[in-house]
Amino acid sequence: MGITRTMDVDTVLKRQESGDLKRRLRGRDLVGFGVGIIIGTGIFTLAGVEAKTHAGPAVTLSFVIGAVVAGLAALCYAELASSVPTAGSAYTYAFATLGEVFAWIIGWDLLLEFALGAAVVSRGWSGYLANLLGLPQEWFGEDATVNVGAVLIIALLTVVAVVGIRQSSVVTNVLVVVKVAVCVLILAVGFFFVKGANLTPFVPPSRPAPEDADALHQPVVQAALGLEQTAFGIAGVLTAAAIVFFAYTGFEALANLGEETRNPRKDLRVGILGALGVCALLYIGVSLVLTGMVPFTDIDAGAPLAAAFDSVGMGWIGALISLGAVTGLTSVMMVELVTIGRIGFAMGRDGLLPRKLGTVHPKWGTPHRVTIIGAVLIAALAAFVPITELSDMVSIGALSAMIIVAIAVPVLRRKRPDLKRPFSVPFSPVLPIVTALACVYLMLNLDVLTWIRFAAWLALGLLIYFVYGRRHSRLRER
Ligand code: ALA
Repeated sequence: MGITRTMDVDTVLKRQESGDLKRRLRGRDLVGFGVGIIIGTGIFTLAGVEAKTHAGPAVTLSFVIGAVVAGLAALCYAELASSVPTAGSAYTYAFATLGEVFAWIIGWDLLLEFALGAAVVSRGWSGYLANLLGLPQEWFGEDATVNVGAVLIIALLTVVAVVGIRQSSVVTNVLVVVKVAVCVLILAVGFFFVKGANLTPFVPPSRPAPEDADALHQPVVQAALGLEQTAFGIAGVLTAAAIVFFAYTGFEALANLGEETRNPRKDLRVGILGALGVCALLYIGVSLVLTGMVPFTDIDAGAPLAAAFDSVGMGWIGALISLGAVTGLTSVMMVELVTIGRIGFAMGRDGLLPRKLGTVHPKWGTPHRVTIIGAVLIAALAAFVPITELSDMVSIGALSAMIIVAIAVPVLRRKRPDLKRPFSVPFSPVLPIVTALACVYLMLNLDVLTWIRFAAWLALGLLIYFVYGRRHSRLRER
């Protein structure tokens, strides 16, 4: 049926050399983009929520576990991105190695990850803004019928994303400086308020799940093994690790910028590993300070970091943190929008999505059509859907794409041993296999409902592929 037809790596390479996208980004722009998309709701909100509900002070351990898994995946991404730099990233790697249907599934997963990510973050942004400026909750809060704040920020950022990649990059770099400064401030000041008593016991003992816990919110691995639902303990640390993995998602976006990077072979590797390393250190430090400042049972679920400083009488720092959150979340959405454009561009170029989506604006040099369509869908979601639960979907989408990327590393080495690899994953195929297994393991710690929704998304994607993509694929014409 041709669903496992693969794209020739040389075609990918040739195409990116003569590509339509403009090569305007430098190495440090990439680190900026990376930190810009990585640090967001994950550390500003989820760290506190997960300490309170699943892991206690050991949420720091959850962040360490997340960093290890994300780091392994980043090595695989770095090898593929530096040897096959292209706008489609993981989607194109799968196309060149495992075949068209896998490529489609990955592209579909990544669209889910970035679209839902942007929707989640736009609502979080709106809430923080309301908090900071005292705006009405009925238009800006989580209970809003139509979340005006979320729609406005998506619309505004879409304009920037369409006008040009350099503009997106300048805006992102400014926002990143503010965001990193806020994290450093939290570390530097918060350190003095850490109390050893709050951190002991580090892993709160396992206890029965709260009464309102239902089977759909049980980790799928526990449900499958017929285990009793519990909270905290080591199982809680693992659940939290799967959920806070959200905080690391986004670095994959860098691998999409291969066709817009001046020296992709070197800069992509620096960008991916550099950005992830910076964020991992900040997360581990910030989560330790947060749980050291406040007993985990008293953590505020809405604005955990700001509230922690309020509680020790440092309200002005709390206000600065809220400001940093509003700023920081803006850059996450910015990069997510840019990424959706690049993935849609690559899928349209290959004919798996309508080809018009794969064309670039003559003056601005950006894939404007797909960016705008994506933004309209995101704004619609963000306006009406309360999305707290859907952040798990971002993690599952990212992890499943990482599995395919990890497998693609040894497959491509066998298929194309001759390819220039400016960066190689050490100990292949062992390390890529370990990476894939680690991703599966984290996915198993996400809840049953997330798996059901993810299966539905995949089913919809496969339907579209068999009805549209398979017939219109450019490979089919050859
Ligand atoms: N990693 C991004 C965040 O934490 C999506 O918000």
